[in-house]
Amino acid sequence: MSKMYAAIAGTGHYVPEKVLTNADLERMVETSDEWIRTRTGIGERRIAGANEFSSDMGAAAGRMALANAGVAPEDVEAIYVGTCTPDMFFPSTACLIQAALGAKRAYGFDVSAACSGFLVALDTAAAAIESGRIQNALVVGAEKLSSVTDWTQRDTCVLFGDGAGAVVLKPSDRPGVRSTLLGVDGNLDDLLYLPGGGCRHPASAESVRDRLHFIHMAGRETFKVAVTTMFEAAKEATRRAGLAIGDIDWMIFHQANLRIIDAVAQRLGGPEIARKAIVNIDRYGNTSAASIPLALSEAVADGRVKSGDKILMVAFGGGLTWGGMVVEWI
Ligand code: UT7
Repeated sequence: MSKMYAAIAGTGHYVPEKVLTNADLERMVETSDEWIRTRTGIGERRIAGANEFSSDMGAAAGRMALANAGVAPEDVEAIYVGTCTPDMFFPSTACLIQAALGAKRAYGFDVSAACSGFLVALDTAAAAIESGRIQNALVVGAEKLSSVTDWTQRDTCVLFGDGAGAVVLKPSDRPGVRSTLLGVDGNLDDLLYLPGGGCRHPASAESVRDRLHFIHMAGRETFKVAVTTMFEAAKEATRRAGLAIGDIDWMIFHQANLRIIDAVAQRLGGPEIARKAIVNIDRYGNTSAASIPLALSEAVADGRVKSGDKILMVAFGGGLTWGGMVVEWI
């Protein structure tokens, strides 16, 4: 029997209508458009409505991905959702997306790996398809980070935004997903974390007072680890795909900071390679698990990504967690 591979058959994305600009933030905290642009590359970000949640954005992105893949919602077999802002602990965001799509036959679950959640979910889906266990999967990254952003803290509130991206994975006789590398390091748990709401710090007057329900980050330290970890993950994922960095057509790095994207790309191969980085952080900020599928879907929709292209995706986030994957566009 010939080996079964997994390939992306369609992509989708969704961003909320409301735009929050750097000028808006200047009125909220002590910051400037100049600081935000030069330190992060962010110009604006999207903010979900009061009654718009990760599952709504994920379902919208999922609907677009299914239409592009030619898969009917009732034929979806699995829904894997990378998110660190689930609508609630349970039901999972995957269950809520399943209901919203009318995906009657699907099972699903959420993946908790912060900004690396989409790649972990995509790898899980690829493994299930390669094993023959399922015939298709909807893989979603969806976040409402505005709900866990401390809008009084200038060192974090300028960074994050809301949105969703999704892909449909199907079996293929050619390798679409060519390599994966995933990692975690819980020893660095204090660099980037959201402690409130779990069993260690359940909701209480104290947890609210201590602002435990918001994202906390040691920015400078996280930056350094992000660059070295993403560089290593990019190199290793490329090597495991049997490719050299020059064979890569597009690089989609988690959109955390334009300076991180540039530093990793330059280290990988200088300006020639850096030009291959797909960037949308200027318009959306850091959307955590949504950032890679959102950037991929936009690049597919505007015709940049073409058949035969090799795409290197690299993620990094709280945990710490990281991942690198090479996907060929079939
Ligand atoms: O998504 C998961 C992974 N996330 C990341 O990898 C993010 C990694 N970190 C970063 O992207 C950057 O560290 C930040 C964008 C968060 C911060 O940039 P930085 O260049 O590392 O700045 P810094 O934290 O070293 O702060 C430099 C200065 C400080 O002032 P002093 O101490 O030098 O007087 C900050 O207080 O900038 C100040 N600052 C601000 N000033 C204006 C911090 N935030 C702001 C702000 N506006 N929003």
